[in-house]
Amino acid sequence: MLLHVREVLTPDEIRRATEVLAQAPWGDGRVTSGEQSAQVKNNEQLPEACEETKVLQDLVLRGLQRHPIFFSAALPRHISPPLFNRYGGTNNSFGNHVDSAVRYLPGTAERIRTDVSCTVFFSEPDDYEGGELVIEDTFGSKSVKLAAGDMVIYPGNSVHRVNPVTQGHRLASFFWIQSMVRSNEQRRLLFDMDMHLMQLRTQVGETDPAVIGLTGTYHNLLRMWLDV
Ligand code: NI
Repeated sequence: MLLHVREVLTPDEIRRATEVLAQAPWGDGRVTSGEQSAQVKNNEQLPEACEETKVLQDLVLRGLQRHPIFFSAALPRHISPPLFNRYGGTNNSFGNHVDSAVRYLPGTAERIRTDVSCTVFFSEPDDYEGGELVIEDTFGSKSVKLAAGDMVIYPGNSVHRVNPVTQGHRLASFFWIQSMVRSNEQRRLLFDMDMHLMQLRTQVGETDPAVIGLTGTYHNLLRMWLDV
């Protein structure tokens, strides 16, 4: 499932993030990629251990925590520490690649399975030319370029790229999620059901017997499919 999640960050948070990123010690983006994707990756990234990264990680994680649609769509069990990248100038693209299935969390023995890939946009679409995130799907490819503060989530197993940025700079955060529900298909069904239930609740009320029954079905499906 590819989903546009709106307003993960507030305009104030975007401003703050942009200020921090303007002073940040950017480095080569290839430090966190595997051998195959390193060959097509040409961007800049913030070092994982620097102070700016920590400040911005808190900011992004706070945005995710308060967002109900994000939670329902991703059903996160683990979220990898968000990373930050910049495309522009001579470091302006990332060709077709797949993300590694496992991510080792820096400085720990922990690892997560990358069920869901996420990008939060920090730059407005008008700030740069090109720079679309293009995700290949069985239905064809989907081009994504969102407002600052918005996020796209998409299946971790898809081939994707970032088109060359030919003018301006594209700033974003990216990270992965290990979901409590491993299957993309099951997660999608649960999300659809949750969204429709939300709609139904506003139409007929929380205590309608059908709403109570279907809410039970949603939770029973969760119980059947989820790992905590
Ligand atoms: Ni990727």
